[in-house]
Amino acid sequence: MPQPASGDSPWWHGAVLYQLYVRSWRDTDNDGYGDLRGVIEQLDHLSWLGVDGVWLSPTMPSPDADWGYDVSDYTGVHPELGTLDDLDDLIAAAVSRNLRVLLDLVPNHTSSAHPWFVDACVGQDSAHRDYYVWADPAPDGGPPNNWLDATGQPAWRWDSRTGQFYLHNFLDSQPDLNWWEPRVHEEFRRILAFWFDRGVAGFRIDVAHGLYKDAQLRDNPAAPGDSPLVGRFGLAPVYSANRPEAHAVFRDWRQIAERSAPPRLLLGETWVGDFDRLAAFYGADDELQLAFNFPFVFAGFSAPELSAVVARTLARLPAGSCPIWTASNHDVGRFATRWCGDDDRKIRLALLVLATLPGTTVLYYGDEIGMADVDVPPELQRDRMSMDGGRPDGNRDRARTPMQWNASPGAGFAAAGATPWLPVGPSADRNVADQRQDPGSVLSFCRSLIALRRAELGGAIASWQQLPTPPDQWAYRVGELVVLTNFADRDAEPPVAVGEILLRTGAAASAGSAPVLGPWEGIVARSGGATGAGST
Ligand code: GLC
Repeated sequence: MPQPASGDSPWWHGAVLYQLYVRSWRDTDNDGYGDLRGVIEQLDHLSWLGVDGVWLSPTMPSPDADWGYDVSDYTGVHPELGTLDDLDDLIAAAVSRNLRVLLDLVPNHTSSAHPWFVDACVGQDSAHRDYYVWADPAPDGGPPNNWLDATGQPAWRWDSRTGQFYLHNFLDSQPDLNWWEPRVHEEFRRILAFWFDRGVAGFRIDVAHGLYKDAQLRDNPAAPGDSPLVGRFGLAPVYSANRPEAHAVFRDWRQIAERSAPPRLLLGETWVGDFDRLAAFYGADDELQLAFNFPFVFAGFSAPELSAVVARTLARLPAGSCPIWTASNHDVGRFATRWCGDDDRKIRLALLVLATLPGTTVLYYGDEIGMADVDVPPELQRDRMSMDGGRPDGNRDRARTPMQWNASPGAGFAAAGATPWLPVGPSADRNVADQRQDPGSVLSFCRSLIALRRAELGGAIASWQQLPTPPDQWAYRVGELVVLTNFADRDAEPPVAVGEILLRTGAAASAGSAPVLGPWEGIVARSGGATGAGST
């Protein structure tokens, strides 16, 4: 169970981070793609909202088979997004607003257009051959083992020029790097240092669970079910990912991150389903400082499911480590749709839970206005990996559509006339300009919530204690506060007495009124007060 942090805890403990999908944020050059200048232009939105840091989705040069997750140059900036100077300016502009900037680092694979891979394909003895995972055919001439890529196809592609298969756990234009090769470690040490020297506050590490593959390339076993957490397409990724050797890489990077002044943050995309594995990414406080919690992302939006995941997470994480809570991203879609069915009451409740759990919260762009997934018609889809049902988790374009800044037809994403790379969502009422004017909006609520969090819980991993409740409710003490939630369509009596009510999700109720919980309502209050009905 994480303990409350001491006074000198790192900035990310208790922080609110914001995942910003650059291509979809703000287009300043009217080419239909968001860009770094657009991020600079709208940074005031983030300061106004009160977040502490921003994670920029991939910014490095890429042929965009997977929209930046196929990197062709790890120390550059994608020309469509801007220049290295723009990124420097962005970091400076963010720092002047006390915002930290994290980049997305993709160490599991490169683009097939990366010069390392181009050279690796010249011949079996080329200088960069061992940067990638090559294998001879199986005795029947087919792929070396049964591994499947993210679309369910064999994860091996035959390279006729050099007479071997290469491994790609994602698209065949994303060859996996070979982390058994020491020079790959050297390359990434240099890449980390390059960006830390430029003032980057840390990295979100893509596919952190995947770096190493089994040295013997053994077949993956059958999955005990089919879910994003246990395995897809009938196979559990036991040998194609999740290998213990990755931990040594994170220990090495942690030292590099800590040698920098101030220390930098390593935030892993740790796509694992069990809590022991999740906890292992924190090491003995010598690996990743934050590891994304996918069991929480995939929990159902109900009091029993969420409370069970939270309790199990907190029970397993090493003492002093910082849990992290998020519910939307560019892969899994938006919580406003998945959890809340676009119901404002539930959206506020979800935000309240995200912002009052102990640890760090990550919002995805648009969460603050309750943006929903957008049904992108097939002819406008851009995510190659999920086209034709390639990914069982659906089309990922749905959560990558332009940020909705205002109610104009283009939502204020680009100047009038530009065609955005993905269509603007139909829910025009969910936009920043209108919601800023409306004190009862999701955006106004979200801002108050972040301010409350900063004032009452800021800078610490607050202590946390779950309180007994009927099944449709979830209540907990966090720091000095009490959070009461009602996950049902009917009113509920609060399970414990509370003191002053600081914030409630119900639009009609006023702070300080009788604390009956309306349907799907949540309340943040101070401890104490008269005993409520049904208290335990
Ligand atoms: C991660 C990214 C995802 C990408 C994949 C391959 O899961 O979040 O968008 O497709 O890695 O890089």
